[in-house]
Amino acid sequence: MFFACTKGSFVGRRFAMPFMVLTHTGASIIRAFLFGSALIALGVTAPLSDAQKVELTVDVSKAGAKIDRNIFGQFAEHLGHGIYEGIWVGPDSKIPNTRGIRKDVVAALKAIRVPNVRWPGGCFADEYHWRKGIGPADQRVVSLNPNWGGVTEPNTFGTHEFMDFLDQIGSEAYVSVNVGSGTPQEASEWLEYLTTAQPTTLAKERATNGHPAPYKVAYLGIGNESWDCGGNMTPDYYLNQLKIYSRFVRNFNPAQQNKQQMLKIAVGPGGGEPRWTEWTEAIMKAHQNHSWSWEINGLSLHSYTVVRWPPAFKSVGFGEAEYSQILKSTLDMEDLIGKHSAIMDKYDPEKKVALVVDEWGGWYAPLPGSNPGFLVQQNSMRDAVLAALNLNIFARHADRVRMANIAQMINVLQAMIITDKEKMVLTPTYYVFKMYMPFQDATFVPVAFDAGMYTHDKITLARVDAIAAKDHAGKLWLELTNVDPNEPVEIEVNLGGVTAKSAAGETLTAPKVDSVNTFDAPHAVEPKPISAKALGGKLALKLEPKSVTVISVEE
Ligand code: AHR
Repeated sequence: MFFACTKGSFVGRRFAMPFMVLTHTGASIIRAFLFGSALIALGVTAPLSDAQKVELTVDVSKAGAKIDRNIFGQFAEHLGHGIYEGIWVGPDSKIPNTRGIRKDVVAALKAIRVPNVRWPGGCFADEYHWRKGIGPADQRVVSLNPNWGGVTEPNTFGTHEFMDFLDQIGSEAYVSVNVGSGTPQEASEWLEYLTTAQPTTLAKERATNGHPAPYKVAYLGIGNESWDCGGNMTPDYYLNQLKIYSRFVRNFNPAQQNKQQMLKIAVGPGGGEPRWTEWTEAIMKAHQNHSWSWEINGLSLHSYTVVRWPPAFKSVGFGEAEYSQILKSTLDMEDLIGKHSAIMDKYDPEKKVALVVDEWGGWYAPLPGSNPGFLVQQNSMRDAVLAALNLNIFARHADRVRMANIAQMINVLQAMIITDKEKMVLTPTYYVFKMYMPFQDATFVPVAFDAGMYTHDKITLARVDAIAAKDHAGKLWLELTNVDPNEPVEIEVNLGGVTAKSAAGETLTAPKVDSVNTFDAPHAVEPKPISAKALGGKLALKLEPKSVTVISVEE
């Protein structure tokens, strides 16, 4: 089957975890008391009314790491309708567009300040030859996309169109170069074409194609899943490739020569088993004593919430059993990051190399009637909670996780946006990214709370999750997730000595765990205003069942 390229990547990615893992990283002192779990272990059932009250203490006197805005990055692969129809409709389309790029999608993405976009893949990247995607549109080569449905690839969306798209949405380029079927020469010429300001033949060709000024490439991905669809390489084989690409695929943009260099991201693990820990060990160990001639700034991690391969969970039309199983599975991200961070700490205690979670999100069964190679799925309230839980994990590990890219931006997997011809709808995941905007580059602030527990059948999860951060202006922001799909939670926020006057923000919830936005009912799952009462300097607010809430605090 065409879409089977990643099959092996997911087998056995899962590993057991206790009731819940909230927490901590490096010097930060988040604590979540496993009080609920302890009660279960003792066979004691907590009185319901107590369990629904959560007291949360924010230690405003302590500051953790900066939550890099790049953790809100996106991934746009040539896959299904991710690029064609999702972004690119062509300049002659009746759908309103700017130079072929749809205006509605640009406006929606601009509104969530997307920090970076990873492109052109994914598995597609290791079969992408950039020359096919430049020059006059009517002379572009039509090739194939064997990874994703075996369809033709018109190459009408290429280098210039991608850069134009980034310019329109105000984002940075994360370009993945072809290590699988390409050569270092091909990749280095692409970067020269993109970035040099000197009058080379490639720069002149770029100018002839409409862009005399050099482009900025902020992030360079050296291969994709090279242990699988990227060429089934061993760690040693990949390491040799990595050194060559890191050395010769240069950024020439004069504006980026000092502080703002192009950051290079190596292929990293795809799970927590020995095969993956060995991969991380090999790369990080070699990098510890790297010579002047090669370097990396990031190691990628791919982890989808899939439960079992092939993805069989429905993306709509499911109930509480599937809700709780998926959320339990998504929390594996905590262990995975913990495991690989520990290896990285061994070889890079100063945390110079970032862990870049550049593919994450829910991966479900293809929607009935869709091309299975196009990875089409709906996006529900469950995905909003899933997104919040993962973003909170990244924030807690902000000292090491400095970039992440949800898979994928439009019409593919856990998308922000779904389109159908001229129609467009924003998903619950989109709204989570919108609500989290104040956390972009904010400073992490530790939070302590007894999360309580939510149980369905054999699954027990932390009922509540929360993070806090201070923005540039010193304003305190809180994110509060109520995982429990049935019961509200009364939250009391204590600011440790500081008197809270009020708080207000937005909350996202929906009638059902599988509520979705559709073209006919696009506003079913949308954030609504919420405010908190101040009582004796503490804040009190009620979290609706299955909800994601972001508030700012007036002290
Ligand atoms: O996001 C879909 C695919 O999943 C990507 O192409 C690949 O890198 C991963 O296995």
